[in-house]
Amino acid sequence: MNRNLAMEFVRVTEMAAIASARLMGRGDEKAADQAAVDAMRTMLDSIDCETTVVIGEGERDEAPMLYIGEKIGTGRIPKLEIALDPLEGTTICAYGGPNSISVMAIGEPGGLLHAPDTYMLKIACGPEGKGKLDIRQTPTENLKRLADAKKCRVSDLTAIVLDRPRHKELIDEIRLAGARINLIGDGDVSGAIATAQPNTGIDILFGIGGAPEGVIAAAALQCLGGEFQGILKPRNQDEIDRAKKMGVDDITRVFKIDDLAKGNLMFCATGVTQGNFLDGVIFKPWGCLTHSLVMRSESGTIRHIRAEHHFDKKPRY
Ligand code: FBP
Repeated sequence: MNRNLAMEFVRVTEMAAIASARLMGRGDEKAADQAAVDAMRTMLDSIDCETTVVIGEGERDEAPMLYIGEKIGTGRIPKLEIALDPLEGTTICAYGGPNSISVMAIGEPGGLLHAPDTYMLKIACGPEGKGKLDIRQTPTENLKRLADAKKCRVSDLTAIVLDRPRHKELIDEIRLAGARINLIGDGDVSGAIATAQPNTGIDILFGIGGAPEGVIAAAALQCLGGEFQGILKPRNQDEIDRAKKMGVDDITRVFKIDDLAKGNLMFCATGVTQGNFLDGVIFKPWGCLTHSLVMRSESGTIRHIRAEHHFDKKPRY
């Protein structure tokens, strides 16, 4: 995969982040999401490749743009697959909270799991815990293993967990084990990445969130050398059937990081609102500032890109 493409793709998340950041705090999730979708779709079409959306805004009949199976780009080689979320954390953005991002993972054909839109039980951590965690074990056991790997006490660890009633038992157990908890309203992609970023103070992610978000987070953690495991948690027979249709025969299967995202991967994310490892978009009289993370699994390079966008020279913004 041409490494220069990463710089093309980051323009896409920058544009989507700027478009949705303009609507921060308006209380309108749909408008913020739509702005990001429109911007992402427009920018993607200018990239010299043929990209198929494997994780996007939904099935073709429910999403007019960036739907699963949609082909975008100029149509030239290389052929790539893309898992995207133009605005991860729509509610966060709509209410001006922390950690909403615009995000994309790009892989070669077959590199990204075509995940059904169901829930997924997830565990994630940074490189120190790679190969040490097991999602089938209890949170207490996984906290002990991570503490051993990091040569610290469980009470020094911070777990990030979506604040949901379904996580009551999980939260009780983490508290009993003695670890600290960062409860978040939304955004478990950002939460998973935070476990592998320096200075976030986040060590491990536990809990149930969207399966498509799990694939995006797994791609990011592949680039960061971290760990990610997931088990699908369908809510009904319809979701089980959908998962089977997408090739998941064993619904109880443990998806390891390589099952979710493998091969040559690129990952781009741009902060929409202020976050743990990405600053949000800041508007200025002349334009705006953005902060993005761009990574490639092949080289292991992790780039933080801070950009100034001058609107007089970019009328599209
Ligand atoms: P959106 O960006 O679609 O709003 O998703 C945010 C999110 O919090 C994800 O990060 C997470 O995986 C999922 O929603 C959790 O779903 P639910 O809100 O149903 O618990």
